Amino acid sequence: MLEKIDDLLVEVQNFQSSTKDETEQFRLKFNGKKGIMNDFYDALKQIPNEQKKDFGQKINILRNAVNEKLEELKSSTESKIILEKEDLTRPGFPLELGSRHPINLVKNRIIEIFKSIGFAVADGPEIEDDWHNFTALNLPEYHPARDMQDTFFIEQNPDVLLRTHTSSVQIRYMEENEPPMRILAPGRVFRNEAVSSRSHCIFHQIEGLYIDENVSFADLKQTIQFFTTELFGKSKIRMRPSYFPFTEPSAEVDVYWGLNSETDYRITKGTGWLEIMGCGMVDPAVLKNVNIDPDKFSGYAFGMGIERIVMLLYQMSDIRMFFENDKRMLEQFKSL
Ligand code: PHE
Repeated sequence: MLEKIDDLLVEVQNFQSSTKDETEQFRLKFNGKKGIMNDFYDALKQIPNEQKKDFGQKINILRNAVNEKLEELKSSTESKIILEKEDLTRPGFPLELGSRHPINLVKNRIIEIFKSIGFAVADGPEIEDDWHNFTALNLPEYHPARDMQDTFFIEQNPDVLLRTHTSSVQIRYMEENEPPMRILAPGRVFRNEAVSSRSHCIFHQIEGLYIDENVSFADLKQTIQFFTTELFGKSKIRMRPSYFPFTEPSAEVDVYWGLNSETDYRITKGTGWLEIMGCGMVDPAVLKNVNIDPDKFSGYAFGMGIERIVMLLYQMSDIRMFFENDKRMLEQFKSL
């Protein structure tokens, strides 16, 4: 009897199965109701007491071997089943290419144009203090021009706010650097305005600043003319006198775009002219605020809004689209 068990042990250990059926046959042979193991358990009851210990141990070894083998077969047939079910020749899921946001496309293009004439890119925080957003820009407390910019305040006394324009970066840059300087500062700005198809409480500006000896309004005009020709391929611009506390004299620049579509009518308010920026010669009081000698240096600054330019270039009629992240809109810019 004991030898028979040894033989079975070898048989179990060598057993191989390639199908579920074969494995099931093996299981029934040993562990089935009428299987070998049950026969041995029955036999154990009949056996003389002094042999029970040896016999019992042998049966245990065999039982463990059988169960181990079954486990092993089970996991190998399971992985085989997975292989049979999965179609390994099926192509994978395509990885979708992202696209650039139209605002960034135009922003990058504008940066490129100004880089080609020597402007560097500067950066500043979106959360600002009163000094950089207002006071240093010649907008002291109670200055009526503060009302032009509906400010989102985060804290008051001392004021912490969301910058209302990128002009704050002018101040930060001039505080940290010596002239000559020629920078561009793109970024988001925030104003507490009613949201409509034409205006939003978040939008993007690009600030420009050029400080050196003998910078004149003619330099400003030429630079803007160069820029609009590069960006629009059209060069008809006009400058209207305007007012900003931090520039003197100040102007607003319009580019003639034309009226060929409904969107053109909407964005240009039916005039065909697009107002692209405010600009002017940096006020000597601002230079003093950042310790630059206004008798030695002069300069110009401009600030343009990106959204309206993008809307005309891509014929988009609602500014809110820029902030909704609708894939159907974004996907149209894939190849750009
Ligand atoms: N900061 C002004 C605005 O937001 C634009 C501007 C910038 C005007 C620089 C003049 C010089 O309206």
